[in-house]
Amino acid sequence: MADLPNLTVIDHPLIRHKLHLLRDRETPKKLFRELVDEISMLMAYEVTRDLAVEEVDVDTPLERTRGHKIAGKKLVIVPVLRAGLGMVEGVLRLIPSARVGHVGLSRDEESLQPVEYYFKVPAQSEVRRFIIVDPMLATGGSAAAAIQGLKDRGAEEITLMCLVAAPEGVQALNQAHPAVPVFAATLDRQLNDRGYILPGLGDAGDRLFGTK
Ligand code: PRP
Ligand code: URA
Repeated sequence: MADLPNLTVIDHPLIRHKLHLLRDRETPKKLFRELVDEISMLMAYEVTRDLAVEEVDVDTPLERTRGHKIAGKKLVIVPVLRAGLGMVEGVLRLIPSARVGHVGLSRDEESLQPVEYYFKVPAQSEVRRFIIVDPMLATGGSAAAAIQGLKDRGAEEITLMCLVAAPEGVQALNQAHPAVPVFAATLDRQLNDRGYILPGLGDAGDRLFGTK
């Protein structure tokens, strides 16, 4: 997308199918959780496509050959609480040895500004690669704050993975953190006057945890 150079939309048919079920207002909590989990796993496959590998020897039952193993910076998955928690298990299924940090941010309903209430990530951020997970990128305020928090702790390599992105949020991130790639399952149309994504899927946290 020419005007959103930081964005990659992963629009695999399986993801598109699961996304239409996720949007449906009649989808119950259990299925909603399963869909968030499955889409996250499928997206993780693409988000990690550029991971470095190194050649190693491997002894098959027949002979010695060369194979590849993941090399480079150790991965850390960072869910933005609460809704990002729904994406963690899906990513970990593909990258079971990844560490997990947590960033607690809540969007003020009036100002739409993020309020930080928790931040815990592994030490030595400069030697790690961070993947922030949050289903919704709306104004971009929460993602920008999470990225800034990681940078303040020394992180140099950060990727954002979300399910539904609004153009406003992608643009805001491109301004604030142009070197951070954004992966989304869909780019939606716009925000409404309360900062909700249209057509979107509603409040991801409430739908995951049944709080409304
Ligand atoms: C939602 C969502 C993002 C944020 C996106 O979280 O999960 O973190 O809003 O909005 P923004 O791009 O305008 O900042 P919310 O603050 O509702 O908290 P929750 O996950 O606890 O429900
Ligand atoms: N947060 C959500 O959960 N949904 C939106 O549409 C916007 C922000």
